[in-house]
Amino acid sequence: MERYIEPYRVKVVEPITAISREEREAAMKRSGYNLFQLRADEVYIDLLTDSGTSAMSDSQWAGIMMGDESYAGSRNYWNFKDSVIDIFGLEHVVPVHQGRVAENLLFSQLVKPGMVVPNNSHFDTTRANVEHNEGEALDLLCAEGQDPHLIAPFKGNMDVAALEATIERVGTDRIPLVMLTVTNNSGGGQPVSMANIREVSKVCRKHGLLFFFDACRFAENAYFIKTREPGYTDTEIPDIVLEMFSYVDGCTMSGKKDGMVNMGGFLAMRDEEMANQIRNLLILVEGFPTYGGLSGRDLEAMARGLREVLDIRYLEFRVSQIASLAEQITDVGIPILAPAGGHAVYVNAGEFLPHIDPDEFPGQSLAVNLYLESGIRSVEIGTFMFGGKDPITGEQRRAKLELVRLAVPRRVYTTMQINYVAQSLRDLFKKRETLKGMKIVKEPPFLRHFSAVVEFKQEQGSATTT
Ligand code: F0G
Repeated sequence: MERYIEPYRVKVVEPITAISREEREAAMKRSGYNLFQLRADEVYIDLLTDSGTSAMSDSQWAGIMMGDESYAGSRNYWNFKDSVIDIFGLEHVVPVHQGRVAENLLFSQLVKPGMVVPNNSHFDTTRANVEHNEGEALDLLCAEGQDPHLIAPFKGNMDVAALEATIERVGTDRIPLVMLTVTNNSGGGQPVSMANIREVSKVCRKHGLLFFFDACRFAENAYFIKTREPGYTDTEIPDIVLEMFSYVDGCTMSGKKDGMVNMGGFLAMRDEEMANQIRNLLILVEGFPTYGGLSGRDLEAMARGLREVLDIRYLEFRVSQIASLAEQITDVGIPILAPAGGHAVYVNAGEFLPHIDPDEFPGQSLAVNLYLESGIRSVEIGTFMFGGKDPITGEQRRAKLELVRLAVPRRVYTTMQINYVAQSLRDLFKKRETLKGMKIVKEPPFLRHFSAVVEFKQEQGSATTT
């Protein structure tokens, strides 16, 4: 893959400090070996998430100074609305403060008990919002997307035959909408092809079903279409985005990803009546429809960020930075969910630490050890996150894959810092046999990964004393 250098230079710096090994050990102990419980200033390189962690541009910061904080009709709302209409071609726009509120508002309108929402893969909050309305969140990811080793261009695609079969089985009355998550975060940040979007849309049209994107990482997805899908090499990113969105009835969006802002999101759709119903709910929980839980200045930053993310030089650098991290670690045999995603590299911790049983959380051990060794924060996406007691059978559930996600914030870390991450993982890989499994000491009844207290099952010896 071609390599690109940063298409921007640094104007403001934020100091970060690497605390000592002893301090990191004390911090982990105090935090119950749970990386969510650390103070962020105890972290050197923070790859916990790419959400809300972007660096804003000088133009966005200038826009912040142009914030109009009028309760109703702020000029920034109109700028924001223009951006959304220009970029996505969706006429009716509802700002919210982050993506999950968009999901909550949309599903509380559409999802009734017993209904089924098909998606390539639901993100946790999307799933939780479907289930909160007593619906079933059904993942219909294509077979390629389920093989962690296979290199294929569009592993985020939906299995269209499975969608047809679901419609046949469930009936259109019980399917309030079909969703596609672009890119597919829960499946490794893999993109969805234009051909797949077109096919899903065709099926939805045929059956009169609504079709929405979970659009968080739409620009990264468009870049993969340009570089991987036949026929799009010469198409500009904004035209690819317009075509992608021409096939849907609407989208939910977390601006904290490809909106390039620290807080923000929206719903956009073609149906005015639906938008008005959602606005009635919005007033109850977020605020007046021209600000939806955001300051005028936040809307301006998002209006500008959405346009900036379409810059091909930015996207080339972004995707190649992540590919370079993947390449540097796979070169020495570190197993990842292949190929690298658009926003993150997902290390296959189950294969990195084959001597640790899934019930002893290899992903958590890897993530904790990476922090202890190098001050890097990542996140376990495996049995520690998704496991726990099945409420019905009482059995211990296991995740399909034991992963550790290294999510890269946008425009934040330099190539040298990413190289440091790669080197740290390579060093850890050399002594992988000394890493030990973990056990949970205390856990809450749900979403345990945020606050559970864990510890190593045995002393790790040299791995913790270097
Ligand atoms: N949909 C997807 C695909 C996401 O990745 C996220 C957030 C959301 C919806 C919810 O958006 O956080 O603005 O409410 N993902 C973050 C992550 C948290 O770390 O992947 P939100």
